[in-house]
Amino acid sequence: MKTSVCIIGGGPSGLMLSQLLHLKGIDTIVLERQSREYVLGRIRAGVLEHGFAELMREAECGERMDQEGEIHDGIIIAHDGEQQRVDLNKYSGGSSVLVYGQTELTRDLYEARDRMKGVVIHNVEDVQLHELVGTKPHVTYRKGDEIIRVDCDFIIGADGFHGVSRKSIPKTVLKEYEKIYPFGWLGLLSRTPPVSPELIYAKHERGFALCSLRSQVLSRYYIQVPLTDTVEDWSDEAFWAELKRRLPQDVATRLVTGPSIEKSIAPLRSFVAEPMRYGHLFLAGDAAHIVPPTGARGLNSAASDIYYLYHAMVAHYQQGDSSGLDNYSAKALARVWKAQRFSWWMTTLLHTFPDSPSYDQKLQQTDLEYLFSSDQALGSLAENYVGLPF
Ligand code: FAD
Ligand code: PHB
Repeated sequence: MKTSVCIIGGGPSGLMLSQLLHLKGIDTIVLERQSREYVLGRIRAGVLEHGFAELMREAECGERMDQEGEIHDGIIIAHDGEQQRVDLNKYSGGSSVLVYGQTELTRDLYEARDRMKGVVIHNVEDVQLHELVGTKPHVTYRKGDEIIRVDCDFIIGADGFHGVSRKSIPKTVLKEYEKIYPFGWLGLLSRTPPVSPELIYAKHERGFALCSLRSQVLSRYYIQVPLTDTVEDWSDEAFWAELKRRLPQDVATRLVTGPSIEKSIAPLRSFVAEPMRYGHLFLAGDAAHIVPPTGARGLNSAASDIYYLYHAMVAHYQQGDSSGLDNYSAKALARVWKAQRFSWWMTTLLHTFPDSPSYDQKLQQTDLEYLFSSDQALGSLAENYVGLPF
C-alpha cells in the first residue's frame, strides 16, 4: 500500500489530522490497534477549548458538537466549606469552554472518515516503523498471518502514551521528562442529572473530587484515590459516600446517585518527550506528552499539535514550503510546556499529597487565598483553562 501520510493511532489526534488533510486533498491511512467499539468505549476528556472546537468545525465535524455541546463560562472551586466561582468568560476576555465528551467527538470523526471513504484500518498488530531517517520511510503491520507494508512520505505517531512511535526514536536522540504523582483519579459515569450546571473542583483533606458532566442526563464524577487502589476496591455505594464527604454540604445533599455505567482509575502523570520530530516521524498528542487531567489540557494540547502539523503538511504539499515541518517540534513544545505548567499547578493546588510537610500545606492554602484575592491570578487561571492561543 502507498499513501502520503501514514498515521499510527485512531484516537482523536490521528482521526482529526486524517480528516483535515483529506479535505485538502492529502491522502492518509490510519492504523489503529483496537476495534472501533473499544476506542469509543474509553471515557476520557469532557472539556474542550475554543481552539479544539474550531478545528472540529474546520474538519467538517462540528455540527453535533455545536448542537449538543454545552458552553461553560465558569467553573467552581470548592475549598474549606466555601464555593468560589471563576468567571472564565470575564477573566479570559470573552472566552469559554465547551463540554462535549471525547467519546462523542471521536464518534463524529469516525463518521466523517466513513462519509469521505477515509481509510482507517482497525485491529492491526505488531506495527513497526522503518527508515525514519532513510529515503523510503514505511510502516509494517500484521493482520492475521499477513505482514502488510505501507510506503509513505511521512509517519505520524498519534498512538498515545503506550504506543510504538515514540519508542522507535533512538534513546540517544529522545529526552524524556516525567513527574509521577502519588495518586490516581477514580472516575464514575452515571445516568443521573449533574449536581451542578458548572464543573466543581473540590479540594478536601480526604482528597480531591471533581463533579463534571456529559449532558443534562449524564454525569461524570472523579475522586482522588491512592495508586494502590483498584476499581474492584470501590463499589458504587462506597464511591458515592466518599464523593459526598468531599463536597460542600449543600452540594452533597442535592447529589443524585445511581448505578455506574463505567468506572475506571487513571494514574496522574506529567510527561514530555523531546524532540517531537525524528526524520520522517512526527509525534502528536499523548504519544509525546501527558498531563494530569486537573486542568483539562490533554486533548486540548493534542489539538494544537494537530493544528501545527496540519498547516505544516498543507504548506509542504501545496507550496513546497517545509519550514512548518522543520519548526514543528519547537513550536509544538513551546505550547506543550505551558499546558504542563498549568496542569501541574492546578494539580498541586487542589490535591492532598500524602506525607506533605506542613510548610507545603500552608503554601497550598496561601496559593488559593491569593488566587481569589487577585484579578491577575484569576486572569492567569482563566486564560490557561480556556486555552492559550495556538
Ligand atoms: P489516544 O486517545 O490515547 O489515542 C491513541 C490511539 O492509538 C488509541 O486508540 C490506541 O488504541 C492507538 N494505539 C496505541 N498503540 C498503537 C499501536 N502500536 N499501533 C496502532 N495504534 C495504536 N483532556 C482534555 O483536554 N480535557 C479533559 O477534560 C480531559 N479529561 C481526561 C480525563 C481522564 C480520566 C483522562 C484519562 C484523560 C483526560 N484528558 C482530557 C486527556 C485526553 O483524553 C487525551 O489527551 C487524549 O485521549 C489524547 O488523544 P490521542 O489521540 O493523542 O491519544
Ligand atoms: C471530565 O469531564 O472528564 C473532565 C472534566 C474536567 C477535567 C478533567 C476531566 O479537568
